[in-house]
This record gives sequence, C-alpha cells and structure tokens, in this order.
Amino acid sequence: MNAILIEKLSKTYPGGCRAVDSLSLSLEPGEVFGFLGPNGAGKTTTVKLLTGMLAPTSGSSRVFGIDPAKAPEQVHALSGIVTEHAQMYDHLTGLENLLFFGAVFGLSPADCKKKSASLLERLELSDAADKKLSAYSTGMRQRLSLARVLLHEPRVLFLDEPTSGLDPESAQNVHSLIRSLAREQGTTVFLCTHQLRYAQEVCTRYGLMEKGTLLAEGTLSELRSRICPGVTVKLRASGVPAGLFGQAPKGDTLELAVSGEQEIPGLVRRMVEAGADVYHVSAQLPSLEDIYFQLTAKETKKQPQGPLETAPKQEGSL
Ligand SMILES: Nc1ncnc2c1ncn2[C@@H]1O[C@H](COP(=O)(O)OP(=O)(O)O)[C@@H](O)[C@H]1O
Ligand SMILES: [Mg+2]
Repeated sequence: MNAILIEKLSKTYPGGCRAVDSLSLSLEPGEVFGFLGPNGAGKTTTVKLLTGMLAPTSGSSRVFGIDPAKAPEQVHALSGIVTEHAQMYDHLTGLENLLFFGAVFGLSPADCKKKSASLLERLELSDAADKKLSAYSTGMRQRLSLARVLLHEPRVLFLDEPTSGLDPESAQNVHSLIRSLAREQGTTVFLCTHQLRYAQEVCTRYGLMEKGTLLAEGTLSELRSRICPGVTVKLRASGVPAGLFGQAPKGDTLELAVSGEQEIPGLVRRMVEAGADVYHVSAQLPSLEDIYFQLTAKETKKQPQGPLETAPKQEGSL
C-alpha cells in the first residue's frame, strides 16, 4: 500500500485562488519526500488537504489507504503534523506540554515521561524541559513541536517548513533526526520547504511545485538526467594552448560543459598531450537549484519568483 496517494487533487479557495491544480503523486512507505517550491506554490494547502484540515475542490487523496476528507481523525492518529506556527501552551513547560499532548494521544504517563525525556535529549532541549514555553525561542518551539508529534510514533510525518527560523546547527540536528526516523523506523516523511539546500541533504525524492502545479518529480539523479543533463568540468592548468577547446582559459581556469563524467579522462589526456600541466579537475553536477531554475526559467523571465533558498553546486573533486 502507498503511504500517500494523491490523485488529481485540486483546491480553489473562496475568492478564486487555485492553490493546488490537479496534483497527482504517490509515496512509498519510508520515503523522505521533498515537496519544494517558493512561497505561494501550494505546499501548505497540500498538507492541509492531506491531513483533512481542508476539503478538496476536486480529486482525492489517501494516507495509508484512509481518505483525509472523510476520516481526518484516523489520519491524525497515524500522522505527526508540524506546521510553521507550532500551537502549544505558553504557560506550561516544555515537558508539561509533551505530557499533555502524549495523554491526548493515549500514551500512559510512564511511557510518555520516558519518551519525552528521550526526545527532549535528542532535540537538545533537556536543559529547557522545565522552562515555560513563553521563554522558548522560535527554534526551541519548533524543535519541541517536532518532539510533540513524535511521541505517538507516527507512520507518516507532515513537516511544513520545519527548519524555517532555525539556526544552521539546529536545522542540521532536525535533519539528522528526520533521516534516522526514516532509516530506522521506516517513517514516511512529507517535507515541505523552500530551502533547497536543506532538502538536497535530507530527501530521497522530490516534487517541484510552482503556482499549484507539479512541474517535475523524481530522485535527484532522475531529475538531473531529465532536466539538466551534463556536467560542468572545471580545470586548473598551465600551458594550455590557445583555442584547444575553442575557448581561452580565464587565468589558469578552464570551464567546459560535457555530457557526462565519462568524457573527463579524454579531456585531461588531450590537455596533457598538448603540453599542458593539469593541477586540479572538478566535476560540478547540477544542484536542485539549477534544476528548479531550469524548469522555471521561462516563467522567471516573465515574473519574479517568491523567495527560494538555494544550494551551492555539488562538487566532486577528482
Ligand atoms: N485561506 C486562504 N484563502 C485564500 N487563498 C489562500 C489561502 N491560503 C492560501 N492561499 C493562497 O493559495 C496559494 C498557495 O498558498 P500556500 O498553500 O500557503 O503555499 P506555500 O505553502 O507553498 O507557500 C497562495 O497564492 C496563497 O495566497
Ligand atoms: Mg507554506
């Protein structure tokens, strides 16, 4: 059974905004799916549809076979949902909040205490366990909110911008937790983010959204070969004869586009045989950023996109 199955799902808000437009997707159990796109792409609306907080205008979805539009409480029982704005109780401490929400999910007080202590430690909140939530920073709230939804060991996690507002170290921590949940417990993760750099570190597959439409989906290597095939090779060398590759080196650096890594040894051989000394060769594969902008290039020229945090190119030195 699919963990998540979405078929031609659409949502038009009163007022006419078509936030999600005929979206179809399926996720296998244990996948960490990155649902990516700038603000306004329709990510949060999709999460609200998948968790029964909104009813679709047309189309349907299933979470482990359950229709969230018909049985939202059954979807909630097997899901953990972290939204951008964590709703918890300011006048309770971090630990009291966890004990409260654990009780709501039917955990025994002893079990809940044990799990809370371990999650607080894992999310580096042990020192803040007895502080009131009103004294928590945004990042601490976000991490506590993640601890809260992990108490009942959900089969699927919906994470809507879980690392926005977190410093890089805390974001890293949250990501390693997400990765290990998927790896060790087989938790399925539906991760919405506009932070492409983080997504590339965490996810096993991606869906790229723009204005309610799914532009493409696949693993990074599938997206690379479908949308941005080729590799950029950077060479640092001296004594390269002018015009060897039809272009003059910039200083001692030469940048060449090739169809794949298999062309690199031949390039280096040609340079050496032409009398050049080669000091460094690196192959740059297209990042998610490159892929996204390649897909939206035409649209971007017409109309600027919302904020989208991007990644440095992935570089593999030879
Ligand atoms: N309650 C609402 N009423 C009307 N339009 C909305 C509502 N919520 C979101 N939208 C619109 O739907 C589109 C998608 O929003 P959203 O799903 O929040 O995108 P994202 O999470 O990718 O930023 C945006 O154009 C947004 O303005
Ligand atoms: Mg959103």
